[in-house]
Amino acid sequence: MKINTICCIGAGYVGGPTMAVIAKMCPHIKVIVVDLNASRIAAWNDDNVNNIPIYEPGLSEIVAEARGRNLFFSTDVENAISEAQMIFISVNTPTKTYGSGKGMAADLKYIELCARQIAKVAVNDKIVVEKSTLPVRTAEAIKNILDNTGNGVKFQILSNPEFLAEGTAVQDLLNPDRVLIGGDTTVEGEEAIAALAAIYGNWISEDRILKTNVWSSELSKLSANAFLAQRVSSINALSELCEKTGADVNEVARAIGMDSRIGSKFLKSSVGFGGSCFQKDILNLVYIAKSYGLTEVADYWEQVIIMNDHQKRRFANNIVKTLYNTVSAKKITFLGWAFKKDTNDTRESAAIYVANDLLNEQANIAVYDPKVTEKQILFDLDYLHSRTEAENRDGVEVFEDPYEACKDAHAIAILTEWDVFKTYDWEKIYEQMHKPAFIFDGRNLLDGEMLSRIGFKYQSIGSAKK
Ligand code: UDX
Ligand code: UDX
Ligand code: ADP
Repeated sequence: MKINTICCIGAGYVGGPTMAVIAKMCPHIKVIVVDLNASRIAAWNDDNVNNIPIYEPGLSEIVAEARGRNLFFSTDVENAISEAQMIFISVNTPTKTYGSGKGMAADLKYIELCARQIAKVAVNDKIVVEKSTLPVRTAEAIKNILDNTGNGVKFQILSNPEFLAEGTAVQDLLNPDRVLIGGDTTVEGEEAIAALAAIYGNWISEDRILKTNVWSSELSKLSANAFLAQRVSSINALSELCEKTGADVNEVARAIGMDSRIGSKFLKSSVGFGGSCFQKDILNLVYIAKSYGLTEVADYWEQVIIMNDHQKRRFANNIVKTLYNTVSAKKITFLGWAFKKDTNDTRESAAIYVANDLLNEQANIAVYDPKVTEKQILFDLDYLHSRTEAENRDGVEVFEDPYEACKDAHAIAILTEWDVFKTYDWEKIYEQMHKPAFIFDGRNLLDGEMLSRIGFKYQSIGSAKK
């Protein structure tokens, strides 16, 4: 089957960039991205492409090129479903906050709603592609709903997990390590896989397009994220040991990373990993393992999360301890709130949890992030329900100017590795702070020796205090 119209349900961090790149690389395919959230769609359609709802380097240029040509954003979900031969599901799958599997299992209600809507609307055969990260065997559930509630048309379900990382989404999509497509091992299943592979084949060489069965594809996505997160927790576990022993975690990371069996990537010690995927996917893996009675497997992966929570907490505790055991009414400035640089996404960002701990100690938190809005920062804290919304607004002030944010602070904490922080006039910042002026570098971003020369008390992750 040759595909000329596709639609994507969900215009978020995954759906938006993925469809924009498909539209750019396949001008002959009409790509319709739909979302229930009207303000999000309006932002994607904003005349000024710099106002699209997701910040990703290079994305606005691609949207400018393809939008209105073969890339469309709309709230008309039904029309898009009926027009498309292939439907990508890219809706959010948060961890359940209620009922059985609370705090662990993925909440599939949005996925199920999509499946029911597709079943209702479709009057000809469709290929449905799961793009969201999902527990193993979700495709089966989708298929069940489609086959039992549909209009008698045929559906093929494919799993095509997304491996893009935020901040480098466009590059990852243009030049992926691999594309993974899982489908049924029947003739129809193989045809559906071939149809999707042909779309990617417009810009990705065939040897990078892996074809597997649905279950392998679904499990590979969870496993890849679990492995990556495990590397961060492993190096973070070593960082605490380094601080005690006088070893330097950056040196250790370099030394082990040069072993080609280990590899050098993803060994950067930090205040803890965040993002919408790592924690959710591991919790999901843990939940699946437990549901099959595999206690040791579940415990093994859960330890990655336990270590990450510990790393965030000990960062906050160290700030309190270093500031003479009290931060009450002291101004502590956070540089960075996003979960990593080059994104405005804050989901599960370490900054949220560190701020929460320090607010419990009655600190005054000042925040500056180049891309995150005040509204989002307050929303993130309110979402924890640790205190009233009024108390969060009392305890947190968000600044548009980094120098203002740092003025009169007792300490600065680096929570996100934004490159621009390195270019600041640190002498000027030092002059306007209370003394001793502390910097807690949760990303090992800044030049500690230079800062110490200026007079700062500088601490990084995983090396002895300077
Ligand atoms: C991740 C996967 O990389 C991607 O393949 C998948 O599709 C989605 O989940 P993402 O969450 O966007 O992508 O970002 P990633 O670069 O993986 O970083 C996740 C977190 O780990 C960030 O908070 C980052 O700061 C942290 N991290 C990463 C470290 O602390 N140290 C590292 O060495 C690498
Ligand atoms: C190891 C280190 O590789 C080496 O750098 C160090 O100097 C000494 O310890 P060694 O124990 O000789 O070397 O063998 P290695 O190849 O690392 O295998 C260790 C064990 O892991 C073996 O039992 C091997 O069968 C097993 N293994 C290794 C796996 O089960 N799966 C793998 O993918 C790799
Ligand atoms: P991700 O990081 O997985 O892309 P996001 O939360 O950024 O997650 O995006 C998911 C999008 O899916 C949201 O904009 C949400 O409004 C949208 N969405 C969820 N359910 C539906 C649905 N049934 N129909 C259309 N859009 C949906």
